[in-house]
Amino acid sequence: MQVVRTASELRTALGASRSAAFVPTMGNLHEGHLSLMRLGKTSGQPLVASIFVNRLQFAPHEDFGSYPRTFEADCEKLRAVGCDLLFAPDERELYPVEQTFRVATPHGLGDILEGEFRPGFFEGVATVVLKLFGCVQPAVAVFGKKDYQQLMVVRRMVEQFNLPIAIVPGATMREADGLAMSSRNGYLDAAERAEAPALARALQALARRAAELGGELADECRRLAPQAAEAVGERTLRALAQAERDALAALGERGWKPDYLVVRRRADLARPQAADLATPESLVALGAARLGTTRLIDNLEF
Ligand code: PAF
Repeated sequence: MQVVRTASELRTALGASRSAAFVPTMGNLHEGHLSLMRLGKTSGQPLVASIFVNRLQFAPHEDFGSYPRTFEADCEKLRAVGCDLLFAPDERELYPVEQTFRVATPHGLGDILEGEFRPGFFEGVATVVLKLFGCVQPAVAVFGKKDYQQLMVVRRMVEQFNLPIAIVPGATMREADGLAMSSRNGYLDAAERAEAPALARALQALARRAAELGGELADECRRLAPQAAEAVGERTLRALAQAERDALAALGERGWKPDYLVVRRRADLARPQAADLATPESLVALGAARLGTTRLIDNLEF
C-alpha cells in the first residue's frame, strides 16, 4: 500500500485514473471500516482510503482534540485488507486557507436529527467529502449505513452537484451483543460497554411496535371506507408518536440521555404518513443517546 500525504502526490499515484473506489475515514479503523474497504474492493477498481480527522464537523465542545488517532495500526489493517493507496493529508494540506466556501446542506435533511443536535455537522461533513472527492476523483465511494443520515446527505450532494460518483452503502457491522461498531465505543468504560447494546435493542423494540401498528392499520384499511380509514391513520400516527416517547423514556430510565429515538421514512427521513406505516420495508428507526460522556448513534431499517 502506498501512503501519500498531499493531493499532488495522490494525483501522481493515481495517474490518469478516474476509476478508483474510495472509502473516506477519520481513522481509528475497526471491522466496520474494513467491511467498507472489502466492499470497495469488490468493484474491481484500485482501492483508495483516506484518513483525516475533519475539524469542520466537530463543534467546539466535541471530541476533535481527543478523537483517537491510531495511524500505524490503521495502516496495518488497511494493508491486510488489500488497500492500494492511502491518502492521509494534514490540516495544512486540506485546509491551506480558511475554508470559507462550505456546502450548505438542505433544510429538512441537514438540520434534522443529527443536524438538530449537532448544528453544522453535516455542513462540515459535506464540505470535506466534496474536497476529498475533488482530490481522489473516484468512480465509486463507499459510506456505511451506520451513519444513515450522512449517507443520505452525501447521496443528495452527489446527485445535485452532478458528481460522476456511484455511492455504495455498506451494512452496519455489529459486535456479538448487537452494539453497532463505532470508533467512539472505545470511550466506554466496562459498565457502559455492557449497557451500550440497549440502544440497538430500543430501536428493535420501536421498529417492532411501528411494524405492528402498520400491520393493524393495513388490516383496518382493507375493511373500512376511505373516510373511516383516514381517522384510523391519524390514530395510528398518534400511537407511533407515543411509542417514540416511550422508547425515549425507557432509555432515560436506564441512565441514558437520549437525543432522539424516532421512526422515519427511508426515502427522505421525513416523519412517516399513515400510508408509509402500512408499506413494508419503507421505514428506518434512528436513535442517538449519550451514555456517560459518550454519544452513540444507531439505526435499523424495517
Ligand atoms: O464517517 C466519517 O468517518 C466522516 O464523517 C467522513 C465521511 C470520513 C468525513 O469526515
